[in-house]
Amino acid sequence: MRRSLLPEAVERYVADQMTPQTALQQRLRTETAKLPNGGMQISADQGALFALLVRTIGARRALEIGTFTGYSALAVAQALPADGRLICCDVSEEWTDVARRYWNEAGLTKKIELRLGPALDTLAALLRAGGAGSFDFAFIDADKSNYDAYYEACLQLVRAGGLIALDNMLWGGEVADPDAHDRDTDALRALNAKMRDDARVDACLLTVGDGVMLARKR
Ligand SMILES: C[S@@+](CC[C@H](N)C(=O)[O-])C[C@H]1O[C@@H](n2cnc3c(N)ncnc32)[C@H](O)[C@@H]1O
Repeated sequence: MRRSLLPEAVERYVADQMTPQTALQQRLRTETAKLPNGGMQISADQGALFALLVRTIGARRALEIGTFTGYSALAVAQALPADGRLICCDVSEEWTDVARRYWNEAGLTKKIELRLGPALDTLAALLRAGGAGSFDFAFIDADKSNYDAYYEACLQLVRAGGLIALDNMLWGGEVADPDAHDRDTDALRALNAKMRDDARVDACLLTVGDGVMLARKR
């Protein structure tokens, strides 16, 4: 299953030789690959990148928008300290039931709180509950047309110096094609440009996986 724009052999080298995974992570990848939507899972090197970032900034509180079968949450939660907390947002009970099984097996249930429902509602509830500035790290990986709204909410929820990562910002290369104008491509292309010029953050588009836009809140 292709997850990056790298030549296939290079992608395989990165995945198979340069990205050690636990037996549990490998089993989750194998189970997810059997699902019709299995390609939505982040790549293993993206998971390693997020774990590294979480450890580098000493994150204690993290937020995820788009959990699916739980691979990215597994990577982030494992990198948080023992008293760290990850809030996961998703709408699918079926997919997150798979995630819960693996989090449970990894001993991460105390660290992860899953909130089922439209993520915009969950983010608004977090803000209403006084959550502004209380998160160190946020990962956005859900429905693309709401990415801008997720970014704006995360900018409020993340502290100064905290990080926001957004997946699929290259959208299989579509954002680079000036003739591609479907709803998701237009939304992601516009958000890339907005974040590039956004004085509220330092931003960099990483070409890992399908493109990870990484922003540090000023
Ligand atoms: C690309 S997948 C996430 C992949 C996941 N990060 C991983 O590592 O496997 C996108 C997820 O976003 C969820 N989603 C879609 N629309 C949503 C919404 N409005 N609110 C919350 N979650 C949503 C889907 O149910 C799906 O599980």
